[in-house]
Amino acid sequence: MTESSRRPIGVAVLGMGNVGTEVVRILHENAEDLTARVGAAIELRGVAVRDITRWRGVDASLVTDDPASLVVRDDVDIVVELIGGIDLPRSLIRTALEHGKSVVTANKALLADYTGELASAAADAKVDLYFEAAVAGAIPVIRPLMQSLAGDTVTRVAGIVNGTTNFILSAMDADGDDYDTVLAEAGRLGYAEADPTADVEGYDAAAKAAILASIAFHSRVTAADVHRQGISSITVDDLESAKKLDCTVKLLSICERFVDPDGRERISARVYPALVPLSHPLAGVGGAFNAVVVEAENAGRLMFYGQGAGGAPTASAVLGDLVMAARNKVHGGRGPLESTYASLPVAPIDDALTRYYVSMRVADRPGVLSAVAGEFSSRDVSISTVRQEGAGDDARLVVVTHRARDVALSDTIEALQDLDSVLSVSSVLRLEGTDE
Ligand code: NDP
Ligand code: HSE
Repeated sequence: MTESSRRPIGVAVLGMGNVGTEVVRILHENAEDLTARVGAAIELRGVAVRDITRWRGVDASLVTDDPASLVVRDDVDIVVELIGGIDLPRSLIRTALEHGKSVVTANKALLADYTGELASAAADAKVDLYFEAAVAGAIPVIRPLMQSLAGDTVTRVAGIVNGTTNFILSAMDADGDDYDTVLAEAGRLGYAEADPTADVEGYDAAAKAAILASIAFHSRVTAADVHRQGISSITVDDLESAKKLDCTVKLLSICERFVDPDGRERISARVYPALVPLSHPLAGVGGAFNAVVVEAENAGRLMFYGQGAGGAPTASAVLGDLVMAARNKVHGGRGPLESTYASLPVAPIDDALTRYYVSMRVADRPGVLSAVAGEFSSRDVSISTVRQEGAGDDARLVVVTHRARDVALSDTIEALQDLDSVLSVSSVLRLEGTDE
């Protein structure tokens, strides 16, 4: 049978915003190549939007504001969900799967909490659920973890997985730009979420960390399991201080598998802004670019880098999934199923081993340094470097520690705040990307 004589694959696209618009454009522009790659034509059967009065660049008969009716239509084989949010897409995707449609989605917020439910519905209906675009935009990272590394043991997945915050931090670092102005620009460029709080407070990166940890460690990790801190408190002063330490500040997502002192294997999943040495590959990742470093027992260290947000880059990942799902419809076969057999527990942030950078305003008098150092040593936290900046009313101590349990470090900060000689703790950041 030739491609042209095979029954076309019907596709419904839910959402025509930053990503959906680009998906429809590529479907149209690459129609001939996509047909050859799938072995049958891919035909757009409908697009769902909120406002049907706006011109969408497609035949008006295809546009609906009733996605629930679209996902159950007999002529739709694959549903592409690009609306965002939780309740509506959850219900639409479930309905689509239960009606035998394969689903492609970029919705990390939904997947972080409901992959189990949706993957079961896909397995029951013997259809596919693909979500490459949900983590790190255009960068292939889900498929390498699920398929290419399926025979290895992944020990760490860490990197920059939010384009908006990386765009903001890069601009603040390079030009000292104002936080709000850069955030507005990220929204205009289609990087930010509909509610950018998800980006700047780390919820988006935490959702992605949950997805990555679940896949990498064959366990179920949800957004609530991920320790989360965003970048809204990072100032241009923090970035200046970082420069003095030959570092920059990045919002990192870190997922690790580790053995605790009792010999139990556990997962640590955390998102926070951290100092990264300028010599580390992640320090050079600028703008809305993302990078994910995967470490596996046999493969060693792998780095994935590229555009982490924006309409066209994200649409590229969506199209990759769409072609896979369409090929499976044409030739038979299924994408990989969810794998959670290891069921590793997630450890609290207290148990993570991290390094701290602490900057504090102090009284400029004898004995201050030993009082401060005493709080660290009494909690078994070893100091790597200590530096005094300024003098008199402007005296500051900058301490960088060696690696210690996070709880010991955070207890030390609390104790420092109670010291008479410490006027204020002005900045606390973790330090990552060093071997100490
Ligand atoms: P947008 O906010 O730009 O687009 C959302 C679309 O959904 C709009 O077309 C909107 O319609 C439509 N929509 C909203 N509510 C409804 C409804 N009730 N019924 C029908 N349609 C509705 O989002 P993005 O394109 O930026 O993101 C889409 C998804 O992709 C999200 O899950 C996001 O997290 C994810 N994602 C986004 C990336 C990016 O860089 N932007 C990157 C990776 C993932 P209308 O146009 O009428 O308002
Ligand atoms: N808002 C997200 C980001 C989109 O900035 O990374 C890509 O997932």
